[in-house]
Amino acid sequence: MDRKRILTGDRPTGKLHLGHYVGSLANRVRLQDEYECFFIIADLHTLTTKPEKENIEALADNVRSAALDYLACGIDPAKSVIYLQSAVPEVIELSLYFQNLVSVARLSRIPSLKDMARGIGIDNDNEMPFGLLGYPVLQSADILLPRAHLVPVGKDNVAHVEITREIARRFNYLYGETFPVPEALVSEYGSLVGTDGNAKMSKSLNNAIFLSDDGKTVTKRVMSMYTDPKRVSADVPGTVEGNPVFQYHDAFNPDKAEVEDLKARYRAGKVGDVEVKEKLAKALNAFLDPIRERRAKYESQSGLADEIVYDGTMRMREEARATLSAAKKAMGMSAVWNRVARKAEDVKKKRA
Ligand code: TRP
Repeated sequence: MDRKRILTGDRPTGKLHLGHYVGSLANRVRLQDEYECFFIIADLHTLTTKPEKENIEALADNVRSAALDYLACGIDPAKSVIYLQSAVPEVIELSLYFQNLVSVARLSRIPSLKDMARGIGIDNDNEMPFGLLGYPVLQSADILLPRAHLVPVGKDNVAHVEITREIARRFNYLYGETFPVPEALVSEYGSLVGTDGNAKMSKSLNNAIFLSDDGKTVTKRVMSMYTDPKRVSADVPGTVEGNPVFQYHDAFNPDKAEVEDLKARYRAGKVGDVEVKEKLAKALNAFLDPIRERRAKYESQSGLADEIVYDGTMRMREEARATLSAAKKAMGMSAVWNRVARKAEDVKKKRA
């Protein structure tokens, strides 16, 4: 029997960080054997907030960097497809059909879109770019193009998968059963706080540890992490809950006994922050070492990452043509042109 499918991915905005790993990458790597996986590098989505030429000029490098991050994390091109969104134009046509199946009011209520608008200085709903409002519709087309069943995403994308489900149901209702109704899979750890403890990890907030950071950088980042501010000295009892240093220990330190011991001593005021952080830096670097090794392997073979994205894109194009053709057939859209074309060809034949 055919394996069920996964589609997920990222906008190519630069290097991926530990937050991406915890929020989604870990699930992707884990699910590669059980599912047929499609990983999208969603360059068209970057245009919804950054249509300027500088962004487009940065895309080529960012696409390569995303592909290398995927491969370094253990996404295996022999099992999974990595592809470039803008090189599969069928997604745009499918997205256009989907635009008729969802209301402006429904899209306007999605908090992540408001956040992204605010991020580019737009506070007023009426100033929202049309493309940004349609972000989840394009994402729905991404997901339904390979007819995915499961979408591993971070918390902030769950609402987009919800839109996808509504669109799939509406399409199937109007035109006949065509798409599976996909499920979101949210990581058990949810999102990761930044090293500053304040917001979620993000490149623009400068509170990220990147998957491509070297050992020294990681250690430096960890040693300056935000922690319990009450602890002016090691004998002050500290708070573990909500403390980013312990959140990272929980997510990345496989030595659970060590983590429990540190927590107990921290609560009792019997351990210094330096020791807790040094152990975290060690655990994080141990976690990142195999990722670094895989990255070095792929980087040492020039053109290999590009070839993987190229082959994946070709594979996705086949899938896209098949799905779009099935969708247009279900809608009756292909018949509109087919009738014109058939008659015209007849007439030309007779005239000849
Ligand atoms: N919206 C995702 C992000 O936050 C990127 C993305 C685009 C995506 N298309 C997708 C994620 C399809 C999952 C499925 O960057």
